[in-house]
Amino acid sequence: MPRSRYRTALVTGASSGLGRELALGLAAGGVRVFACARRAALLDELVAAIGAAGGTAEACPLDVADGERTAATLRRIDERSGGLDLVVANAAVGAPRDVAPYAWEAVRAALHVNLCGAAATLTGALPAMVARGRGHLVGISSLASFGALPAAAAYSAPKAGLSMLLACLRLDVVPLGIDVTTVHAGFLATPMTARSTHRMPQRWSAAHAARHVLARLPRAPAEITFPEPLASATRWLARLPRPVRERLLRRLG
Ligand SMILES: NC(=O)c1ccc[n+]([C@@H]2O[C@H](COP(=O)([O-])OP(=O)(O)OC[C@H]3O[C@@H](n4cnc5c(N)ncnc54)[C@H](OP(=O)(O)O)[C@@H]3O)[C@@H](O)[C@H]2O)c1
Repeated sequence: MPRSRYRTALVTGASSGLGRELALGLAAGGVRVFACARRAALLDELVAAIGAAGGTAEACPLDVADGERTAATLRRIDERSGGLDLVVANAAVGAPRDVAPYAWEAVRAALHVNLCGAAATLTGALPAMVARGRGHLVGISSLASFGALPAAAAYSAPKAGLSMLLACLRLDVVPLGIDVTTVHAGFLATPMTARSTHRMPQRWSAAHAARHVLARLPRAPAEITFPEPLASATRWLARLPRPVRERLLRRLG
């Protein structure tokens, strides 16, 4: 594993799936990783695995649904670490299975974690990065943010909000020396999708997705989008005239 350009990184949602693989990959490149999520026992296991492989990581239990605490935690870790070089807002929840996808309970959870939690993570880190004139913010969004999909209001709306937040932040902070990257991921074989029954074409493993992202991050692109065939199809669908698109989506959904 080549040495990373980052000295320190914080990853939310590091207890599972893509976040765990990103944390492992960063640590393997010599980065000191601050691993955040709610399940402390899983974070401890991750930290032990990283330590056993010769890397350095710290478990930072955190519920990003509490935006105030999240922003404050980011500021504290930034100070304690001597400055975070990379912050990855990855924590998210999928659509709950026990309530309708259009129910408030479903929409509320996704908004609080997937949008407000990510916003608090990124903006919590930003003032110190701006003061240093360097740093890299990354948000894990989804191809689901490209356009409306059936049964996806709870999941897609916060992801579209996150993609827009990152695109706006880029305009403000790239001139100040801060890189901003939006990751638009396709389907991943992780606990989030483990019990899903709908079709998931071109589903990648979390490890493969993490390698893909980490190989591209050092160049600080505006976007990392994968897998490309599915991304192109999703973009094409979003550009169809609305009546055609809605008819097609209702039939597919
Ligand atoms: N799976 C897919 O098909 C897919 C597709 C496109 C994009 N994505 C995105 O990829 C990212 C990673 O998802 P994944 O598939 O790896 O899912 P996952 O395995 O379910 O992991 C989600 C992570 O988020 C954390 N999390 C959830 N709620 C949290 C909260 N309130 N506070 C702090 N951490 C919280 C979970 O940890 P705790 O439960 O321990 O808190 C877990 O570590 C997400 O942003 C997801 O939206 C996934």
